[in-house]
Amino acid sequence: MIKFIILFAWLVIFIAIIVPTYKIHHLIKFYKNEGNDAKVEALNTSQNWFYTLIVIASLGGVGIVYLFLKGTIWEGHFFEWLNLAVRWMHITFGIAWIGASFYFVFLENALNRTKDVRDELAGNLWAVHGGGFYYLEKYKLAPKKIPKDLHWFKYEAYFTWLSGFCLLMIVYYFNASSILIDPEVLDIKASTAITISVSSLIIGWVGYDQICKHLSRDKIVFTLAITAWVFFWAWFYCQVFSGRGAYIHFGSLLGTLMAANVFFVIIPGQKRMVKAARQGLQPNPKDGKDAFIRSYTNNYFTLPVLFVMISNHFPSTFGNSSQWIVLIAITLGSAGIKHYLNLREKEQLSIWVMPISVLLLLAVALMTAPAKPKYEDCKEMVSFVEIQTIINNRCTSCHSENPTDLIWKVAPNGVKYDTPDQIYGLRDKIFQRTVVSKNMPFNNNQTGMTQEERDMINCWINQGAPK
Ligand code: HEC
Repeated sequence: MIKFIILFAWLVIFIAIIVPTYKIHHLIKFYKNEGNDAKVEALNTSQNWFYTLIVIASLGGVGIVYLFLKGTIWEGHFFEWLNLAVRWMHITFGIAWIGASFYFVFLENALNRTKDVRDELAGNLWAVHGGGFYYLEKYKLAPKKIPKDLHWFKYEAYFTWLSGFCLLMIVYYFNASSILIDPEVLDIKASTAITISVSSLIIGWVGYDQICKHLSRDKIVFTLAITAWVFFWAWFYCQVFSGRGAYIHFGSLLGTLMAANVFFVIIPGQKRMVKAARQGLQPNPKDGKDAFIRSYTNNYFTLPVLFVMISNHFPSTFGNSSQWIVLIAITLGSAGIKHYLNLREKEQLSIWVMPISVLLLLAVALMTAPAKPKYEDCKEMVSFVEIQTIINNRCTSCHSENPTDLIWKVAPNGVKYDTPDQIYGLRDKIFQRTVVSKNMPFNNNQTGMTQEERDMINCWINQGAPK
């Protein structure tokens, strides 16, 4: 009964938010036509508040659906679709954000600064895209008159962060004991893990912010300090969370730094600059410089963050016994590649940056390769029937056409081991997950696979996987 009262109350509130939002939308259009700027600006502010309310109310709506489905057979399905929806949003916002960021870095680097540039300009650029020709100009400072319609780039960043944090909750906080925590790394309670997770994002930002404020004079000192700080976290996370959880936290931390840079430094600075320019004052150059430092580090964080976001498909990285070294090496290598691209756009040739970065990444690929076959450890030939028995006992509760597992009602990732052909066809993946990274059976070895069984799979593969 109480559920239905909550649902009804929510519906009333939702309608009470939606109706004025439409009204405001029409009023803005009306006053824009009239040319009443003051009214338009005031309405824009209230429109933003109403949009925020819609987001909050929608989240409340999701919570209410959960209330209805909790404990039913659809609870798992609910989380799957929630995961899907939020992940979809997250990558869409992320693409918009990083795309815009790459685009502006490209503009900055590729600007024509010498030929036919008016005095007040820093440079200009011609481009052709989508069947149209574009001509852009960058001002040295602000233009004499700030145009009415000035485009800002900030919501991409905020929504990427918000959706990312929701995803962290849905995937890692709700399943903390099976995905985030690995008792062999550190045996902690779910609440402890979540506390560590949230506070690390805050402390990570505060430390980074201090480095930017106090150590940014000397480029080398600054780069070393930022590198040391983020690598400390790469190491730290691997000491407290499962490999996969540690990697995603490293990415979440970098993403948090990037979004917080936009929220706390870049956008407020830009607002002050626009305000000064509107009053006919000279903008404070410090605002521009601070924003530059933040965009500069954001730029180098992009490729490492993108790696982390796809890393959970690659257990040879996070499942490695020295996972934090792998993480740091991949971060360095990918930031190096970004550095090379930055130099190239500025038409500065660098001979060593790219080869060293690529070599570093190749070294990681080598380092994470499975150990060489050890025939001498295998006393007897392992037959396929023995392998099939192991798989039937330990894997098919989830990986089957008809899983018997309580949570996994559909074969995870579509991987099924019902027939010999299915097992045989996926033998390299079986080897990867049970012997190399040892993160199957899922959920902290839920079906209790023994080391002996892992050794048998290892031997079978090394004996050429006879069928
Ligand atoms: C409790 C359920 C469960 C059991 C038992 C289980 N798995 Fe999984 N498996 C999962 C889930 C969930 C995923 C997807 C998440 C992931 O990739 O880590 C998965 C993914 C995989 C993948 C990756 C497939 C791909 O294409 O990315 C492989 C390979 C795999 N499991 C093999 C095994 C083997 C071999 C066993 C038995 C030794 C096993 N699993 C037992 C739940 C299970």
